[in-house]
Amino acid sequence: MSPLPPRVDLCPLTPADQDEFCALVRASAELHTPWMQLPTTAAAFREWMRRFEDGTNLGFLLRVRETGAAAGMVNVNSVIRGRYQGASLGYAAFAPSAGRGYMAEGLALVLRHAFEDLRLHRLEANVQPGNKASLALVRRLGFRYEGLSPAYLYIDGAWRDHERWAITAPAPWTPDASLPAV
Ligand SMILES: CC(C)(COP(=O)(O)OP(=O)(O)OC[C@H]1O[C@@H](n2cnc3c(N)ncnc32)[C@H](O)[C@@H]1OP(=O)(O)O)[C@@H](O)C(=O)NCCC(=O)NCCS
Repeated sequence: MSPLPPRVDLCPLTPADQDEFCALVRASAELHTPWMQLPTTAAAFREWMRRFEDGTNLGFLLRVRETGAAAGMVNVNSVIRGRYQGASLGYAAFAPSAGRGYMAEGLALVLRHAFEDLRLHRLEANVQPGNKASLALVRRLGFRYEGLSPAYLYIDGAWRDHERWAITAPAPWTPDASLPAV
């Protein structure tokens, strides 16, 4: 029996998403605090969108197929090619549809896009030890625990320790042309 099709689509984040995105982030303050800070105003959103201009960071919304509503966001951050061919994930659910499995399905689509289309070899998720929901999510997706990175990211006004979780491309994997031959 073939698996059910995903209930969400992976949609590149665009300037047109501004008002919906900011409203959903404002509605998600309790869920996101203290783990994630996202733009809540038009000016902050425009500034935030600049990070996607040179292709080093990619931004996506997870949209529920049935309704078109955005269930969450995922960033593929800090894409490094050469001998690394990796990136690091940032993600957050939006409160109105959190806890329904949309993030797990959407992140599975992100993994497939990253490994098959972008031809990345490795994705990291750096998660604070107290962020149980995020740890459960990456564990469910097959990420492996690699260790603790002390004072790794500046979050909510302080340098926070993070657990480093990672997943590498399943075989067979087709490398990007930027991977050195030897
Ligand atoms: C971490 C975070 C993204 C998880 O989002 P989420 O919406 O809870 O994720 P999902 O819904 O995909 O999965 C969680 C739950 O859905 C349940 N679920 C899975 N499939 C389901 C389905 N088909 N229908 C209903 N529920 C389902 C899972 O069992 C899980 O519940 P459990 O953890 O109690 O077992 C969210 O808590 C969040 O935004 N946190 C703040 C930001 C943040 O921490 N980002 C990460 C920084 S590292």
